[in-house]
Amino acid sequence: MRLFINACVRRASRTEYLARELIQRLGGAWDELRLEELDFPKADEAFLLRRDALLARGEYADPLFAPARQFAAAETIVLAAPYWDLSFPAMLKQYLEQICAVGITFRYTPEGIPEGLCRAKTLYYVETAGGPFAPDEFGFGYVQALCRSYFGINDVRLVKAVGLDVDGADVNGILLEAAENMDTLIHEDYKEGKTSC
Ligand SMILES: Cc1cc2nc3c(=O)[nH]c(=O)nc-3n(C[C@H](O)[C@H](O)[C@H](O)COP(=O)(O)O)c2cc1C
Repeated sequence: MRLFINACVRRASRTEYLARELIQRLGGAWDELRLEELDFPKADEAFLLRRDALLARGEYADPLFAPARQFAAAETIVLAAPYWDLSFPAMLKQYLEQICAVGITFRYTPEGIPEGLCRAKTLYYVETAGGPFAPDEFGFGYVQALCRSYFGINDVRLVKAVGLDVDGADVNGILLEAAENMDTLIHEDYKEGKTSC
């Protein structure tokens, strides 16, 4: 199963457009998870206690862990998220909290170091930004660190288009160029430390 995690909300989303271009190029059958359609539980103390108890008992089949099971089983992942306030939409953080489940997406070694349990070798992060500069550290960089440190997904690739809301921007040209760069991105061999096209 290939998984498309969609954190876009606008009907005319440029990020979603690029993600669908990428999915078409990657081919195969995809499950789509539209994050705006999920009801995330309130992460209060009662929730944490319940969740920890379920995980401690190994009750991974509980519906609470359906997103984590789906993420862990995916063979390739495309994650589309617009650039919001130096990062990504809050619902993506809520989703990531849901899928960080010990025993499903990662486990701890006896030394306390996280070890990935996810099947995917590659996660593609698709992002568009309105301004000309969109630093990576709090959006893509965070997801990349999580994938590598917790999920065991080392190959995290970035599709990025910026400057879309700048006055006079050639929006179609910017998107077209980003789409064209995908062919190289998809076919290049993964190298440690390489992040973007
Ligand atoms: C809530 C919100 C916050 C945003 N914050 C930023 C930002 O910090 N930097 C930036 O360059 N663009 C920002 N933008 C502009 C979006 O990144 C830009 O319009 C993007 O292409 C939207 O993606 P979409 O077309 O997929 O919805 C923001 C847009 C919204 C709605």
